[in-house]
Amino acid sequence: MDNRYSFLGGKRGPWRVARLDGLRGAGLEAVERLQIVQGEWAESASEAAWVLRGLTSNVRYATRPEVDALRERQPALARPEARCAALIPIKKSARWWELAQDERRAIFEETSHHTAIGMEFLPAVARRLHHCRDIGEPFDFLTWFEYAPEHTHAFEDLLDRLRVTREWDFVEREVDIRLEHI
Ligand code: HEM
Repeated sequence: MDNRYSFLGGKRGPWRVARLDGLRGAGLEAVERLQIVQGEWAESASEAAWVLRGLTSNVRYATRPEVDALRERQPALARPEARCAALIPIKKSARWWELAQDERRAIFEETSHHTAIGMEFLPAVARRLHHCRDIGEPFDFLTWFEYAPEHTHAFEDLLDRLRVTREWDFVEREVDIRLEHI
């Protein structure tokens, strides 16, 4: 399966932009709609105001028990009831990338409990992580989440808990884009 995804912000697409907040670092231009294209990279020459590209990839930090637990509880994307979504592009600092893999894992999980916290919100929230640090993109990750409207508050709680962790000390750019399926 082709693991390339392009996110086009503009006037077209099945996702209506309800909010677009630049939280850290430079924001992104406000747009009305979002379209996601899988496969061939979408060209920025289209009428989109911006195009963000990322690839799904292998896990970096999850241990075998975590991978198994996630597989058991993680819901699929595109559930009909999950009419809300969030696209949260994130860039981490040079300080993060200078760390060794074991040091990053320790901050990510043993100190910040990213997976443990996230697991509490399954199966309400479905997710897909895209990597883009090595393909010359402005962000390191494009994080994508889908949930039903009644889980909006739970999703806010999840963000509140993750954003106060040590891991987030290394986040230097973050834009929070909330979407509703049309
Ligand atoms: C990475 C789980 C929510 C941002 C990961 C990884 C797991 C995970 C297991 C590591 C993947 C690997 O081993 O490479 C979850 C679960 C969530 C959740 C179960 C619950 C829905 C979130 C949210 C955000 C987020 C709400 C952003 C606001 C990220 C980022 C990474 C990541 C940026 C990549 C970190 C890095 O490689 O440095 N997540 N997550 N996650 N997650 Fe989450």
